[in-house]
Amino acid sequence: MLVETRDLSKVYGHNPACNKICLSLEEGQVFGLLGPNGAGKSTLVKMLLGLVWPSSGQVLIKGQSVNNLAIKKTTGYLPELFRLYEWLTAQELLVFYARSYGLAKHEQSSAIAEALELVGLRGREKEKIKGYSKGMQQRLALAGAILHHPQLLFLDEPTSALDPIGRRDIRDLIGILKKRGTTIFLNSHLLSEVEMTCTHLGFINKGQLIVQGAIKQFLQDNQQLVIETGNLDANLLQGWRLKNKLLELTPDKIVLNVESKNEVPSIINELVRRGVPIYNIDINSRGLEEVFLDLIGDKGGLS
Ligand SMILES: Nc1ncnc2c1ncn2[C@@H]1O[C@H](COP(=O)(O)OP(=O)(O)OP(=O)(O)O)[C@@H](O)[C@H]1O
Ligand SMILES: [Mg+2]
Repeated sequence: MLVETRDLSKVYGHNPACNKICLSLEEGQVFGLLGPNGAGKSTLVKMLLGLVWPSSGQVLIKGQSVNNLAIKKTTGYLPELFRLYEWLTAQELLVFYARSYGLAKHEQSSAIAEALELVGLRGREKEKIKGYSKGMQQRLALAGAILHHPQLLFLDEPTSALDPIGRRDIRDLIGILKKRGTTIFLNSHLLSEVEMTCTHLGFINKGQLIVQGAIKQFLQDNQQLVIETGNLDANLLQGWRLKNKLLELTPDKIVLNVESKNEVPSIINELVRRGVPIYNIDINSRGLEEVFLDLIGDKGGLS
């Protein structure tokens, strides 16, 4: 287990920002933490980094304390609210980061060039940061987070300032880092982005981790099979044992709830055997938005 928390809690005054969170991440996962504003996502990330001291409970990275310096050196962090030294150039800032990470001098320039390339800022590194747009600053902060090839990378809303091209670039970048074996912990409100990048998900609300698991588990449940037919004679379906899975039945359409694609061939076979004309077949997976609303729904949001 790369990351493990045991009953991890943080209370601010009387406000339990995180409440007895038991979370686990294996190496190589891209883990997306989803939850409404104020749910406790950033607080959790800061505790995982050792930046916020837990009120109770434990954080273990590779079975060790998060405050172990050797562990800290193998993590990277893009904070949700970051400020860069605006009077420096991007190159100067990254040299400062590289030194802080303890990179040897001969490694620094190639690491910086590679990070700038990965975030799409190559060629702009001689400019002062104060002249950078918000999105460029976010890219630069990300370059700073990956400069030292961390094994574990925390990204707290990494695309909040980015345009659609920038978001796609970050998705691609996450793909590259994943191939390198980097484990990534991502906080994001952009569900489509999470759906495209994450291998695992956790849902948090009001400081409580509601559920965590592989993304497939959330998206494969309850798929809808939509069968287009025409002038359907309902008598053809008499005695059909799958009628309990029916969501919609009209002369032109049959919609069924299916748990996995494996059920589809036998359903179609049966309909053909009964003489039902079939013009088209579609499977609509439930999107993450529906899953999110089901799990968090009206219970979500600031209290
Ligand atoms: N330093 C702090 N002092 C007091 N309360 C805090 C502090 N940091 C966070 N909180 C409170 O803890 C709760 C969780 O905040 P957190 O920033 O972790 O939420 P979040 O899920 O990251 O929200 P968002 O999606 O808006 O970024 C909120 O009620 C917030 O007001
Ligand atoms: Mg946050």
